[in-house]
Amino acid sequence: MSDPSGAQARNPLYRAGFAVTERRDLWWMEPLLTVLGLGVGFGYLTWAAFLGNPEHGHYGPYLSPVYSPPVYEWFPSIMTYLPAFVSPALLILWAPGGFRATCYYYRKAYYRSFFLNPASCAVGKPWEKYCGETEFPLVVQNIHRYFMYLAVVILAFLWYDALKAFTRDGPKDYVAGAGSVVLLLNAVFLSLYTLGCHSLRHLIGGYLDCFSTCPTSKLRHTAWGGVTCLNERHMLWAWVSLGWVGFTDLYIRLVSSGRLADPVLF
Ligand code: FES
Repeated sequence: MSDPSGAQARNPLYRAGFAVTERRDLWWMEPLLTVLGLGVGFGYLTWAAFLGNPEHGHYGPYLSPVYSPPVYEWFPSIMTYLPAFVSPALLILWAPGGFRATCYYYRKAYYRSFFLNPASCAVGKPWEKYCGETEFPLVVQNIHRYFMYLAVVILAFLWYDALKAFTRDGPKDYVAGAGSVVLLLNAVFLSLYTLGCHSLRHLIGGYLDCFSTCPTSKLRHTAWGGVTCLNERHMLWAWVSLGWVGFTDLYIRLVSSGRLADPVLF
């Protein structure tokens, strides 16, 4: 068959044929596990996002991260102006969802596992053309920095929710249930993920050629070092935090519906 564009002649991975490789290891395992992991994680949160019953996201002082911050409670009339499919959770989840969807790590994960382009190193790819993220639609991924600003704000609310989960009848009435610990770990894991963001690292000091010429050099270098440390484990925290957000929502959903008891720890 003729190849008028000359594409097959230019790209050996495309010319080899889709998924053709000389590799003998289990190269397909990682993309397969990624599809399963992202499918379960994002699948659950999408299901939770479209449910229209925020009462199952509350239990005593617990508030599910899916409904935090509770924008629908601050502006209850807003729901009347929105289409019926927009649930209270969707009012919030577009921001952390966009943050994850444009995250540098997740991009690599779903480009490889869902687009299979390529599925792994030295494995035949389905399309020849690759323009990186310089053209529409992938150029939109550059919006990640703005989602990062929103994610940091939402993180502050999640910490507030986590600390509030240790109170009962007032700010001085401290009680810890298992759900308090679940919410605390949720804030911790999300912090480890969010504060290791590549865009945040760039903003804090990654763009500087020399820290010593900057007036706040010591502080910035320390902050940059901390973000860099988290950034080195960004993939790990991306998975842990994704799983824990889903688990936290599920836990509060089960407790609030009476299917699970929330033991008091101290
Ligand atoms: S690069 Fe992953 S959260 Fe920013």
